[in-house]
Amino acid sequence: MKKVSQKALEMPGSGIREIMDLAWREPDCIHLEVGQPDFPTPSHIKEAGIKAIEQDFTGYTPSRGIPELREAICKKLWEKNGIKATGDNITVCPGAVTALDSAIMTLVEDGDEVLLPDPGWPNPEMMVKFLGGIPVHYHLLPQKSFLPDLQEMEEKITPKTKAIVLNTPSNPTGAVFSEELLKGIYRLVQKYDLYLITDEIYEDLVFEGRHFSVAGIDQEERVLSVFGFSKSYAMTGWRLGYIFSPVKISAIITKLQEPLVSCPSSISQKAGFAAISGPKEKVEEMRETYRRRRDLAVSILKAYDLYEYTPGGAFYIMVNVSALGEDSREVAKKILREHKVAVAPGTAFGESMRKYVRVSLAASDDQIKTGLERICGAIKEARSSLKSNS
Ligand SMILES: Cc1ncc(COP(=O)(O)O)c(C=O)c1O
Repeated sequence: MKKVSQKALEMPGSGIREIMDLAWREPDCIHLEVGQPDFPTPSHIKEAGIKAIEQDFTGYTPSRGIPELREAICKKLWEKNGIKATGDNITVCPGAVTALDSAIMTLVEDGDEVLLPDPGWPNPEMMVKFLGGIPVHYHLLPQKSFLPDLQEMEEKITPKTKAIVLNTPSNPTGAVFSEELLKGIYRLVQKYDLYLITDEIYEDLVFEGRHFSVAGIDQEERVLSVFGFSKSYAMTGWRLGYIFSPVKISAIITKLQEPLVSCPSSISQKAGFAAISGPKEKVEEMRETYRRRRDLAVSILKAYDLYEYTPGGAFYIMVNVSALGEDSREVAKKILREHKVAVAPGTAFGESMRKYVRVSLAASDDQIKTGLERICGAIKEARSSLKSNS
């Protein structure tokens, strides 16, 4: 039998999946490992999808998406992100994940180094490795409020560096990069002739301050920016996202969609049009709910003397579980087995997170309260037995 592709074989799997699979075998467990909104898609968006089916809008569309959606995206990019775009800058994709993959595929060749965050959402790294690129990590450390250090980033740049990938607000930490920091990163990109891929899927979930899009200040066609519908509009299953990129790059990204997906779903695009051009009350309601849950999580951590930081966005918080063991993968399994709470191990997002687990706030207040109190209670117990043994 001939061998399967070595690169495909060697591509690492996602460390979040392992705990999710184990958790589904525990019927009474509390799910704080999942990174998807626990809200239904707003009804006007669902209705647009239903109408698309009823009106037989069920065929292929242009590879880069239907013109009306791309026009609505351009309007949104200008009004919300300060990015000047035409339809030729936009590729609509089946989820932000495909947009990110296409961006990485367009830029990365064998031996290219790509700066990626540690901790970071694992998928870009999987794709960089699959393409024969070399991931080089810059750190988002708790002692720096989970924000990158520009000096460290600059030190990691070599003649082989092709691009920097960043994600703000961040999965898994919820940290929000400031405008000043983003401008600093952009200056490095200019200085060393690099590309910058910004993953802005959580742009609508910023609790304090405002989200800043670097593409708005880019005069040199260096920035590719990924946006989505999944988190803002609770549309994970519709599989819809989009990427803004310079016209020449956008043409390549669009060409890559052909062999991969042909085009995004016609039905989802109609729903996406309703989402982006329709009322935003639900988006605001969901953001307020996540903010309230973040405050709840912070107050529980404070009560147990486990508080380290307050996430400024997204719907995650990292919790230091070092009192329960050395390796967060084992600790996450232990928490699931002994306390019936599923959380994502920090190591799924990078080696620097060995002492942490990611708690998702995309769950009800009750689940967050019970789940976090069980984890915090276990840590308290472990700490006091450590004290009494010493
Ligand atoms: C940081 C980040 N980027 C991209 C995605 C992909 O989102 P989509 O559902 O649009 O593919 C996710 C999903 O969890 C994410 O957390």
